[in-house]
Amino acid sequence: MMPPVAFTLCFLTHGDDILMLHRRFPPNQGLWNGVGGHIEPGETPQRAVIREVAEETGYQISDPQFAGLLTWEGFEIPPGGIVIFTAKVPHRRFVTNHEGNLAWKSRAWACSSPDVVNNIHVFLPKILAGEAPLHYHFVYHDDLRVKDIISPLPETFNPEAVYFPKEGFAEEQRGDFLLSFDKDRLQMDVIEDFIANRSYWAAGRPKSVIELSIQHSICLGIYHHGSQVAFARLVTDQATFAWLCDVFVDDEQRGGGLGKWLVEAACRYVDQKGIKRTLLATRDAHGFYEAYGGFYHLDSSNWMYRDHPNLKENEVR
Ligand SMILES: CC(C)(COP(=O)(O)OP(=O)(O)OC[C@H]1O[C@@H](n2cnc3c(N)ncnc32)[C@H](O)[C@@H]1OP(=O)(O)O)[C@@H](O)C(=O)NCCC(=O)NCCS
Repeated sequence: MMPPVAFTLCFLTHGDDILMLHRRFPPNQGLWNGVGGHIEPGETPQRAVIREVAEETGYQISDPQFAGLLTWEGFEIPPGGIVIFTAKVPHRRFVTNHEGNLAWKSRAWACSSPDVVNNIHVFLPKILAGEAPLHYHFVYHDDLRVKDIISPLPETFNPEAVYFPKEGFAEEQRGDFLLSFDKDRLQMDVIEDFIANRSYWAAGRPKSVIELSIQHSICLGIYHHGSQVAFARLVTDQATFAWLCDVFVDDEQRGGGLGKWLVEAACRYVDQKGIKRTLLATRDAHGFYEAYGGFYHLDSSNWMYRDHPNLKENEVR
């Protein structure tokens, strides 16, 4: 089955050079790649790449050329797909961005350097040689590329189709903000920094524990121009019980209604699932959860708890 094709990747060319991005964030952190990003719900890949190129480089491209489809499995993020484009730009003056450093690189370097995301070496030479768009599928094992499959485009793939997120991964746009249940969008560095360094409830929680907790939870993120600014997760069997936790809004975005939006979306999720009871614990935000989630103080008389026999009271997990 075809994985969700929710990203774009664009190689901007000027003469014999290509504009490459040295990625500051995962996936492929620390490697050079083309520019691009998520396709927003309701966008075609072409509209998405025009927007992403403008946001990341300042170039207003009008006619990106569809160049191929890239899909993967077994990689550091869940299976997915990227629509590849090329576009010529009229000058070399780009605008810098927060995603990483941009630089013009020669075609030969982009097609062979070990500092480039290595699957680029497979498809970029073909694309730059003007070959017809193909489907490039890469199989990874333990983050190592173990198999390349190059084939004609799948009949079901339409590069001009409007993108809608896969079922169950609701997304909602409000102005410049996007709320999404799609874990592919989560920015682990932002979440780990807040939970481990700035939360009062899990200071020092190890990265490995945060990653595992996210893997096994329903997660909500809010993004501003692609940067994560809020997060919450629901620990749930998706049938009878849920625990709302790790709720935060970036300091600079507080007071703007994002917390309310996050909690309302989490409550909509549990209500749609027919989950009878949702719990949470908070030190000082009772009024907030009462007002926007309809939470009540717990009548604790029926409740019991158990602590891990070997973890001390203040040990962080
Ligand atoms: C609590 C938190 C998620 C709220 O997010 P936010 O984006 O600032 O909230 P909103 O802008 O949506 O605020 C909605 C309303 O809740 C109120 N509110 C915000 N924080 C509150 C709190 N701690 N207690 C009571 N009310 C609160 C706001 O004043 C606002 O009221 P208004 O609509 O009458 O103006 C955010 O402050 C945060 O991340 N805090 C640090 C982490 C934290 O404490 N998380 C909760 C752990 S359980």
